[in-house]
Amino acid sequence: MMYLCPCHFGLEAVLKRELAGLGLTVTRVEDGRVFFEGEPLAAARANVFLRTAERVQLVMGEFDATTFDELFEGVKALAWDEILPVDANFFVSKAYSVKSKLFSPSDIQRITGKAVVEAMKRKHRLTIFPKSGASFPIRIAIIKDRVTVSIDTSGESLHKRGYRRMRSAAPISETLAAAIIMLTPWREDRILVDPFCGCGTIPIEAAMIGRNIAPGVSRSFAGESYPFITASMWANAREEAKSLAVPDRKMSIEGYDIDSEIVAAARQNAAAAGVLDTIHFQARDMRALSSSHQYGFIITNPPYGERLSPTTAGSDIKGTKSAAKTVMSDADIKELPALYKDMGEVFGKLKNWSYFFVTSYDKAQESFGRKADKNRKIYNGMIKTYLYEYYGPKPPKRDKA
Ligand SMILES: C[S@@+](CC[C@H](N)C(=O)[O-])C[C@H]1O[C@@H](n2cnc3c(N)ncnc32)[C@H](O)[C@@H]1O
Repeated sequence: MMYLCPCHFGLEAVLKRELAGLGLTVTRVEDGRVFFEGEPLAAARANVFLRTAERVQLVMGEFDATTFDELFEGVKALAWDEILPVDANFFVSKAYSVKSKLFSPSDIQRITGKAVVEAMKRKHRLTIFPKSGASFPIRIAIIKDRVTVSIDTSGESLHKRGYRRMRSAAPISETLAAAIIMLTPWREDRILVDPFCGCGTIPIEAAMIGRNIAPGVSRSFAGESYPFITASMWANAREEAKSLAVPDRKMSIEGYDIDSEIVAAARQNAAAAGVLDTIHFQARDMRALSSSHQYGFIITNPPYGERLSPTTAGSDIKGTKSAAKTVMSDADIKELPALYKDMGEVFGKLKNWSYFFVTSYDKAQESFGRKADKNRKIYNGMIKTYLYEYYGPKPPKRDKA
């Protein structure tokens, strides 16, 4: 079977590495999506283990279409009856088109839905389907007239690990935080500090990586009710994840933020993720950052000046509360040059440290006062951000110990 995992643009290489680490065969990498093949168990393992994918989708088929007739016939020709049970509650949950003749998502959705019904009629002699069983969200992407039709096996997006019950005004996505950490040379035996930790996403993801806690081990997935991925496959994937975790591993991870309410939220989130015991959280201005360690890592997501409406600040995640008191104002945006300048001075005092920060503030390097050794473009949804990478020397072996 072929699967595809969408990811943030710019994270394809790290996702590919993750899939290879799971022993899965990557067949294709495109902007914002990575394809792999495997048995149905692979879908369960990918959902449970992947830190940087947004979803795991079973690819039903790919074909070219420039007219709605071609779209209809192409979708109808796919083997829906092999995957969907007769009572399946199938629906097109997402349709999008990029640089293609067919561009109306609602029409693409409607035609696809009709074609699936026609395909199901081939096998089952019914005209109306009860749709009383498990939900099968169908996703359809048309990129340069090439159609990819898939069934989502994840349900809620994989960045929703389940631990983030409280959030800051501008939280980084869990998948992006994990990817950034995985793009640095940080390992669990090294110190990691996030001086702008907000609701704790970077320290929590680092602790989960360090303890080898699979991000999906405690959540549910749409594919758990699909007949082709059996309950024992999901149980196997979770058992494998539990057997690999090192929940007692102690690490030096620190998270600071100027806002004490957000720091309290970070503690709650870390407790929900089961990693509070290995993270030191404290309310502190970045300008007061210091460390007695000679070598270490700063991995952080400083303020970047996005103006957030109160709605975005408070409520895009169902059931989560916002710990943010304020939204970023023009006054805050004006403070960015001084803040980044101070960051450059404060980080610079930590001789031998390596630092990595992700931001969409376009004058970041200029204000920071030092050109990054490397930078990487990553899209956080529609927002273009850069990960700026500054490398310190490697510690001598005995210091590392
Ligand atoms: C972009 S947010 C970080 C979001 C975080 N990565 C998360 O997932 O929640 C920037 C954070 O910097 C904090 N902040 C702003 N100025 C600060 C300062 N001078 N020192 C420390 N934290 C500061 C804000 O309170 C905010 O939580």
